[in-house]
Amino acid sequence: MDTPTKDIEAVKKRVHVETWGCQMNVADSENMLALLAKENYELVHEPENADLVLLNTCHIREKARHKVVSRLGRLKQMKDIRPDMRIAVAGCVVQAEGKKLAQEVPYVDVWLGPGKIDELPNLLKQNESTAHQQLSIGFHKEREHAAIAEVSRSQIPTISGKNEVSRYVNITQGCDNFCTFCVVPFTRGREISRLPQDIMTEVQTLLDDGAEEVTLLGQNVNSYGNDFLKNGKIVASAEGAFVDLLKSVAALPRLKRLRFTTSNPHDFTRPLADLFASEPKMGRYMHLPVQSGDDVILERMRRKVTVAEYYERIAWLREAHSDMAISTDLIVGFPGETEEQFQGTLDLVEKVRFSFVFAFKYSSRKGTAAARFPDHIEDAVATERLARLNVLQNQITLAQNDAEIGKDREVLFLYESRKDAGHYYGRTEHFRLVKVASNRDIVGKMLPVKIESANKTALIGRLL
Ligand code: 5AD
Ligand code: SF4
Repeated sequence: MDTPTKDIEAVKKRVHVETWGCQMNVADSENMLALLAKENYELVHEPENADLVLLNTCHIREKARHKVVSRLGRLKQMKDIRPDMRIAVAGCVVQAEGKKLAQEVPYVDVWLGPGKIDELPNLLKQNESTAHQQLSIGFHKEREHAAIAEVSRSQIPTISGKNEVSRYVNITQGCDNFCTFCVVPFTRGREISRLPQDIMTEVQTLLDDGAEEVTLLGQNVNSYGNDFLKNGKIVASAEGAFVDLLKSVAALPRLKRLRFTTSNPHDFTRPLADLFASEPKMGRYMHLPVQSGDDVILERMRRKVTVAEYYERIAWLREAHSDMAISTDLIVGFPGETEEQFQGTLDLVEKVRFSFVFAFKYSSRKGTAAARFPDHIEDAVATERLARLNVLQNQITLAQNDAEIGKDREVLFLYESRKDAGHYYGRTEHFRLVKVASNRDIVGKMLPVKIESANKTALIGRLL
C-alpha cells in the first residue's frame, strides 16, 4: 500500500524556469516559484520532463523579442511530442509586446507581465478549465504587491533549487525616472515601495533559510519610501527612508552582508555614503550607474545629474573608505553622441577608476523618448566606441585586481565550482570574485584569504 507521502509525491507537478535579465527578474521568478509550490509544483532543471515551462523575459535591449520567439520555437517541438506540457511566458517582453505575441504564438498557454506575477496560479487554472490562452498585463490598481506580500510569509525557493547564500529582496517596483533610453518605466510601471515590515519579514525568512547575504533591489533604491512619506504610511529620519531601512536590515544579527542595487546618482545622498563608514556589513562596494561622461548627453538622457555632481558622489563614497570599489553602467553611441562626447566617457572612466563597468551599445527601444530623437548614430561607430571603452576598462580592472595580490581579504563563500570540485568561489567586501581550494565545504562561511594571483575576472587566493 502506498504511504500518504507517496500519494502526495504522485500528484506533484514539475516546473522548469528560465530567467533572463536583471536581478529583479530573479526575485520575480522566485516569487512565482513560491506561488507554484503552494500548487504542488516542484522545480526541475530540464524542460524535457516538465509539466510547465516558465520563461521570465527581459526587454531592456534589442533582440529581446527575437530571443523569446526562437526559444518558444524549440519548446513547441517538445510540446508537439507532449501536448500536456504547458508554457507560460512572464517578464518585460510580455508587458511590452504580449498582446501581439499572444496572437502570433498561439501555443503559449499563459502570458503575464511583471505587474501581474501574483496571478500565475489563477491563470494556469483558467487555462486548464477553458483550454484558452490567458494574457494578463498592466498593473494592479490597488498597488499592494499581493504576490510578494503573500510569499513573504513562507519559504521562498531559489531558481537554482539549492539553498543559496546570497538572496535578492525587492524593496521597490517600477521607476519614475523616465531616462530617455529606458523601457523600464513602461514595462515595470511607476515606482511603488514595499512596507518596511514586509521587507524585514522576508529578509528574516531568507536568513532562516540559510542566507548570509541579502541584496535589496529596486530600479532606484535611493527613492525608496517616497510614496509612503507622501501618504503618511511611514515617517523617516532626517537621513531618509532608504538609510533607515538599511540600518534596520543591517541590525538583523544573522545577516553577514548587506548590499543594494540600483542606485541612481540623482537621488544618492550623503547620509547613504556615510553609512558605508559606520556599517561594516555594507562592505566597500557600490554600483552607481553614470551612463555617460558628457553633460549634454546626460541631459538628453534625462539623468538629472552633471558629470561634476557624479564626481561629488564618488568623493563622498571615497571619504567613507578611501579604497571604496565602485562600478557603473555606461551607454555608448547614444543619439547625437560625438567623438568628443564619447571622449568625455573615456576621461571619466580613467578618472574614477571603476572596479568594473557594464558597457552597452545604445539600443533604440520603441516608446522611449530617445527612440524619437532624429540623430541616431551609425551602428559601426557605436561598435567601435564600445570596443575602445572595453579595452580601457579591461586594463583598469586588471590593474586593480593585480593590486589585490598579497592582501588579506574577508571572503564570503557563495558556491563550489561546478567544473573544478574542491574549489570555492566567494566575494570580498569590495565585491571582487575570489577562488580558493579547500578540502572542506566552506559555502556560507566568511573567511580570511590571502590573495596570490589575479586575472580580469577573478582573484585566486589561499585560505588563511
Ligand atoms: N540601450 C542600451 N543600454 C541600455 N540600458 C538601459 N536601456 C538601454 C538601452 N536602450 C542599460 C543602462 C542601464 C542598464 C541596466 O542597461 O546602462 O543602467
Ligand atoms: Fe531606466 Fe532610468 Fe529608471 Fe534606471 S532610473 S530603470 S535607467 S528609467
